[in-house]
Amino acid sequence: MYRHLMSRAQLADLELRNRIIMTPMGTNLAEADGHCDERIQAYYEARAKGGAGMVVVGVGAIAWPEGACNPNQVAISDDSFLPGLSELTRRVKHHGCAAAIQLQHAGKVAVCDIAAGRPMLVPSIPQSSPDELTAALTPEELASFVRSYMQKGAKIEYKVASKVDLEVLVGQFAAAAERAKRAGFEGVEIHAGHGYIISEFLSPYVNKRDDEYGGVLENRARLLVEVLRATKAAVGQGFPVWCRLDSLEFRVEGGICYEDAVKTAVLAEQAGADAVHVSAYANPSSGVGFTEAPLVHEPGGYLKFAAGMKAKLSIPVIAVGRIEPEVADRVIAAGEADFIAMGRKLLADPELPNKLMRGELEQIRPCIYCYSCVSRIFVNDHVHCAVNAQTGFESTTLISPAVAPLHLLVVGAGPGGMETARVASLRGHRVTLAEQGSALGGTALFSAVAYAPNGDLVRYLAAQMEHSNITVHLNTRVDQSYLEDLQPDKIVVASGAVREAPPIPGAELNHVFSGDELRDLMTGGGDTAVRAKLGYFRRVMVLLAGVLGITVRPTLLRSLSKLWMPLGQRICIVGGGLVGVELAEFLARRGRQVSIVEEGALFGVELSLVRRWRVLDELKQLGVVMINNARVVCINDKSLVLDVDAVEVDIAADTVILASGARGDLTLADKCQALGYDVRSVGDCAGVAYIEGAIRSGNEAGRAV
Ligand SMILES: Cc1cc2nc3c(=O)[nH]c(=O)nc-3n(C[C@H](O)[C@H](O)[C@H](O)COP(=O)(O)O)c2cc1C
Ligand code: SF4
Repeated sequence: MYRHLMSRAQLADLELRNRIIMTPMGTNLAEADGHCDERIQAYYEARAKGGAGMVVVGVGAIAWPEGACNPNQVAISDDSFLPGLSELTRRVKHHGCAAAIQLQHAGKVAVCDIAAGRPMLVPSIPQSSPDELTAALTPEELASFVRSYMQKGAKIEYKVASKVDLEVLVGQFAAAAERAKRAGFEGVEIHAGHGYIISEFLSPYVNKRDDEYGGVLENRARLLVEVLRATKAAVGQGFPVWCRLDSLEFRVEGGICYEDAVKTAVLAEQAGADAVHVSAYANPSSGVGFTEAPLVHEPGGYLKFAAGMKAKLSIPVIAVGRIEPEVADRVIAAGEADFIAMGRKLLADPELPNKLMRGELEQIRPCIYCYSCVSRIFVNDHVHCAVNAQTGFESTTLISPAVAPLHLLVVGAGPGGMETARVASLRGHRVTLAEQGSALGGTALFSAVAYAPNGDLVRYLAAQMEHSNITVHLNTRVDQSYLEDLQPDKIVVASGAVREAPPIPGAELNHVFSGDELRDLMTGGGDTAVRAKLGYFRRVMVLLAGVLGITVRPTLLRSLSKLWMPLGQRICIVGGGLVGVELAEFLARRGRQVSIVEEGALFGVELSLVRRWRVLDELKQLGVVMINNARVVCINDKSLVLDVDAVEVDIAADTVILASGARGDLTLADKCQALGYDVRSVGDCAGVAYIEGAIRSGNEAGRAV
């Protein structure tokens, strides 16, 4: 299984135990002074221990603090950084994993230069572009986003690189590479992509020079070639040096095109590069562009670029970009790439390579492509992962054996409850998981109908419930007699949020559904009163889907919903939060005319920033009508009356979905407490925080119990 992906392979003189490379990711986990201390060392060690062939430390700043773009970036500009870096490589290599570091100078996006009032080094003065990023930001995000620009002495100023500056820069790359080697790294990646300085020279859109570093491709690639040559000379033959390139600049007219990227790769090989890492970039002023590149949403979105380059090169090619293991294996078998870099998958599950080796596929915690990790970086926080509460907190969140194992009752089998059960059972506690529904997953199971990756997470968590320490009781209501029978030592309540229909005249009409009613209808759990709202044909269809078991299987439900749904053609969703916007996208993709009405100014605020950019763009493309600052005055048979900035507006609707009003609900937790139990609440019942919040609080509860 995964024979090709897991086979050993050579990168210059370095042999890797398999072909999975942890892609370079800036984590903001270094200390504020650029040193690598415990938390970043533990973060990389976890990925090395998890079985990757090589980990690449992201964005090592070669001229730190100059040319740095993140507040807690790894610095490699001076020997004083060696102790932390050396300890990092020692801990990585201890697990049989190779250690490499990406070398970077941020050029025109060196935000740390702005904050310090230093001019940013650029090939030529950048063209200004319209701001498409900040409109969707919450005030808190905006404040973090602009923090660097607001500091005392901060200014945006550029320094067009002179030949002397470029000589210094080339020397800094080479010195950093030589220092990396002394720190115990076994390879370096030159970052020549993603809008940083070398790619700024490569991009004809950015580089407007008329000297030997501008104009034709050979000139634009000169800096890269010089850096590669100097770096190779500094580290010696056999020590792998490769570069990361953009195969395309999406949404940039006159930017890097694929043909040029291939020629650049050939020039890199001629300059001594031992491999090429095939990534891409997009217009940095476009939020949704970021989900095309570099954090591609389309599975395997850059594989064609890697295969094309592979055909033109004799050095290894590293492919990247949402590549599933089975695809990775196929690509390597077909000779379309030599190594597969994985980023988000290893944030979600550092143990992925080991689990592939052992054939434990259902044990792999899946990335749900929610962009929470990178959104944190955007707002100057350190990396987190929505589905893995330990990512970025490796050294403080150990799952250690319980001193006194006990019997824990977990009430509610959504992500929060299942994560609690998973962690507590690993620690040796005996866990009973009680769920009042007929399936594991809670609201996340329903959300998987609208957003499929959530279903993968539910499947992973459900597989963890097979642990011998866990007993699952489905269709179980927890009350006094149940507790008296079970006699748990402690209780964790993860019973989810309640969704109350807002007090709108007309909310009781038959074509109006609350979030819970819609969930019940789609997942077969609806009571007769809810089903009575439907006409005869729709009622029969809903019952049939329940009998056939379709309603507890999100994948089937998604497919079925393309053919049939118990909803009208014109749908108005009241509430433009996470649930409302994801539902709107789902319905619009199924041919419904959708409008969303939101009381506040912004839509999707609970979504991570980058995912919000993407979803809002998708809604726009799908023609969803989005009305903000709007209060629903009343709902009529075929329309809603809105108050939009004191103007009355009528919008047509055959079905209305009330997707607002979710709130925490501690009723059950309070009842258990009143009966004398030691109780803790996790997930949405303690305050709506969706999957990321549920996993985090569940993980904490599992470790604390
Ligand atoms: C949190 C985060 C930080 C990243 N930082 C960097 C970086 O410092 N350097 C870089 O070349 N790419 C960076 N990337 C892009 C990744 O290296 C990778 O190309 C991208 O995530 C696509 O791979 P994936 O689909 O396997 O995640 C980052 C990605 C993430 C998620
Ligand atoms: S935060 Fe979301 S996108 Fe990032 S690795 Fe975790 S699950 Fe994947």
